[in-house]
Amino acid sequence: MGFFVRHKNALDKQNLPEHIAIIMDGNGRWAKKRGLMRSAGHTMGAKNLEKIVKYLGDTNVKYLTVYAFSTENWKRPKEEVDALMKLLEKYLRDYDNLLGGEDVRLKVIGRKEGLSKTLIDLIDEVEEKSKNRKKLTINIALNYGGRQEITDAVKIIANKVKQGEIDVCDINEDTINDYIYTASVPDPDLIIRPSGELRLSNFLLWQCAYSEFWFSEILWPDFTPDKLEKALLDFQKRNRRFGGV
Ligand code: IPE
Ligand code: IPE
Ligand code: MG
Repeated sequence: MGFFVRHKNALDKQNLPEHIAIIMDGNGRWAKKRGLMRSAGHTMGAKNLEKIVKYLGDTNVKYLTVYAFSTENWKRPKEEVDALMKLLEKYLRDYDNLLGGEDVRLKVIGRKEGLSKTLIDLIDEVEEKSKNRKKLTINIALNYGGRQEITDAVKIIANKVKQGEIDVCDINEDTINDYIYTASVPDPDLIIRPSGELRLSNFLLWQCAYSEFWFSEILWPDFTPDKLEKALLDFQKRNRRFGGV
């Protein structure tokens, strides 16, 4: 027989989202359940991201955007914020070791203000090193807020109008797309939030207009690639209409 029947629960690797976004939530609760410090949850959450990246590296998914630290997360105790920043520094320093041999580009999106000089320098270094890598782009949303992103874009555009570089009549959706942090990145097809919370918490507000959402009770450190695969299978059953029929 010259054909085969694909198992109905098998993932179609040719029909994966081009861009997946994940709100990496639930680290604190994961740690609390085990009587550990919240920072131990963040460490395990970061380890889990390594597994997810490895998994996606073997697929044709082109973009992964992960929410690592929101503009609102500064409200947390200083020691937790410091531990998170140190963890980010550690991963950026380890870039060569972890991803140096992979065709993975790393970008950080969010406001630089408020970040330490050490962290900003590391971000610049890794972005520069990986800028020609193409297979998978990872956007780390750090000190990121969707409203802040839109506000920043509005400021840039307003300045360009003032300078006479843009005519008000020419402002359209593409203009906004050009000045948000994710300029040139396609909108996320799938936004995943583990941990049981059913909200966006200021993540990708402009970009999510036609994203598919997938929520789960599982806490981020436990959200292993097999769980992601479940989300991808569900995604493949969705009927995306974009307002059409
Ligand atoms: C997500 O886990 C990581 C960050 C927000 C930095 P949380 O720290 O929010 O974990 P929970 O929601 O308290 O369990
Ligand atoms: C969103 O999670 C931010 C990140 C995962 C980095 P939060 O834990 O900060 O969100 P809320 O406070 O529950 O809405
Ligand atoms: Mg949380």
